[in-house]
Amino acid sequence: MQKKLSVRHLLGIKNITTDDIELILDTASSFKEVINRPIKKVPSLRDITIANIFFENSTRTRLSFELAEKRLSADVINFSASGSSVKKGETLLDTVNNILAMKVDMVVMRHSSVGAPHFLSRHVKAHIINAGDGTHEHPTQALLDAFSIKEKFGTIAGKKVCIFGDILHSRVALSNIFCLQKLGAEVMVCGPPTLLPRYIKDLDVKVETNLNKALQWCDVANVLRIQLERQTIKYFPTLREYALYYGINRSRLEHLDKEILIMHPGPINRGIELSSDVADSKHSIILDQVENGVAIRMAVLYLLAGMP
Ligand code: CP
Repeated sequence: MQKKLSVRHLLGIKNITTDDIELILDTASSFKEVINRPIKKVPSLRDITIANIFFENSTRTRLSFELAEKRLSADVINFSASGSSVKKGETLLDTVNNILAMKVDMVVMRHSSVGAPHFLSRHVKAHIINAGDGTHEHPTQALLDAFSIKEKFGTIAGKKVCIFGDILHSRVALSNIFCLQKLGAEVMVCGPPTLLPRYIKDLDVKVETNLNKALQWCDVANVLRIQLERQTIKYFPTLREYALYYGINRSRLEHLDKEILIMHPGPINRGIELSSDVADSKHSIILDQVENGVAIRMAVLYLLAGMP
């Protein structure tokens, strides 16, 4: 019998099981083979209509979902809040119900409000996929990150992964912590104390404020962007000072007695959290992450479409 997910929406990593994650990663491996063939399209989601609803900016996630949907032969409609009737005061629920009235089966949504996709999932019949809700979760990013680590090392269990930077404002951090822990990795977070949330001590992760010690500890450095657009107060004096104490550059990596894998979900603030010589080095798998994102999103869409 074909394995199935335990959920009919992908709202976060917190509420899915380790079996769900492993099923998504295994399914993504098969889809990665498909998208590397000369004929990249399969008919799996023919006659399924998917709406990509983005209330916040995106490059990678939006394009990657759209490509995944097209590779699966789904019909795709795209909605951006800018230029829509949201600007005339239409509510989220009215917006989505109007889109669903056009017979949409699945909704991929990014929103600046924490819990927006969870709210929708309680009010509409379509399958909902969270493409990032505020500072909360970004489940497909965590899944593609896990896939990329597994692809490199063959396993995730026992690997030491440190998430660096603006943990406080990051949905990538939270989804990664849940995902990596469920797959048996050891997780550390490292950043200035002002950018480490108070709840972090309840998540069973190691916490380090010294960048060099964290780099020495980890096998994988997942470096996050400073999210200036979400920072309403000053969390550090200047970007120059941030780069001085928390920027990862070649000189810092050359002082380690080992090589580590460099990841970043993008977009990169080059020269702030990561120098270009590291971002573009042979240790960086940043573009592999982007490539793997398509296969992961194909797997998520395919598996959810099989749920009642
Ligand atoms: N990693 C990520 O979510 O990138 P975008 O904001 O460009 O989608």
